[in-house]
Amino acid sequence: MALYELYAHPVERGYRAGLCSKAALFLLLAAALTYIPPLLVAFRSHGFWLKRSSYEEQPTVRFQHQVLLVALLGSEPGGFLAWSTFPAFNRLQEGHLRVPLVSAREEDRNQDGKMDMLHFKLELPLQSTEQVLGVQLILTFSYQLHRMSTFVMQSMAFLQSSFAVPGSQLHVNGDLRLQQKQPLGYRGLDVRYNVSVINGTSPFASDYDLTRIVAAYQERNVTTILTDPSPIWLVGRAAEAPFVVNAVIRYPVEVISYPFC
Ligand SMILES: *[C@@H]1O[C@H](CO)[C@@H](O)[C@H](O)[C@H]1NC(C)=O
Ligand SMILES: *[C@@H]1O[C@H](CO)[C@@H](O)[C@H](O)[C@H]1NC(C)=O
Ligand SMILES: *[C@@H]1O[C@H](CO)[C@@H](O)[C@H](O)[C@H]1NC(C)=O
Repeated sequence: MALYELYAHPVERGYRAGLCSKAALFLLLAAALTYIPPLLVAFRSHGFWLKRSSYEEQPTVRFQHQVLLVALLGSEPGGFLAWSTFPAFNRLQEGHLRVPLVSAREEDRNQDGKMDMLHFKLELPLQSTEQVLGVQLILTFSYQLHRMSTFVMQSMAFLQSSFAVPGSQLHVNGDLRLQQKQPLGYRGLDVRYNVSVINGTSPFASDYDLTRIVAAYQERNVTTILTDPSPIWLVGRAAEAPFVVNAVIRYPVEVISYPFC
């Protein structure tokens, strides 16, 4: 005779043990493993789907006290005066060499241990017949980021300004901004660009050519540039007065992009 299922009801079976038993420990562990690892993965990967993100950091910037100056003169065609902190460059200038008075001071405004700005002043002595129509100036910096990856680079602020009338002073007030063509790593040490912007040991004139220096610099994926929307050119120089470059360069907080792997 065939049998049919006429009625069914579930049976609950309970297991009893003390809270300090192995079974209780196992249950606790299983519960923890269910919830905590996914949270950690989500947290450590900073989001599952993002490919690139960014963070803010104030860089650690120090002026390296390296200067290269070219002042374009108006009195004779092609006339210029030049000076740098590199002896080899100065030797190459011969009659065009003119040594200025330079002072530089970095300031940590909020006392957080990181410099916030550079006050740079350069006074170039001139003869009364000499007239400055333009200035090209390179200042170099050591630039470091520490928050995600440790990024160390030597970078520059390139300043170029020229006007139609002879000047007495040039005032610059700008930011040293980070330029990224490529996201930075989120950990590790990156010293790719910890190379000097100007090869100060080279005896060759070509190594001090501004076109070449700027071209080599622009090859980099990470650089700094000086952004000053409006340098101020003052005219009316007294006969014996020097030409003065006055620059305030700020080191602002940057938004740095980095990839997710
Ligand atoms: C610069 O960035 C490009 C594109 O992201 C990359 O292919 C290249 O390897 C980078 N160069 C260096 C020196 O890191
Ligand atoms: C960067 O370069 C400078 C000068 O060459 C050197 O003193 C410094 O140790 C370098 N920093 C790193 C982290 O490699
Ligand atoms: C600097 O120039 C000298 C002489 O030309 C050369 O030996 C040296 O490798 C150069 N250094 C760099 C970092 O390019």
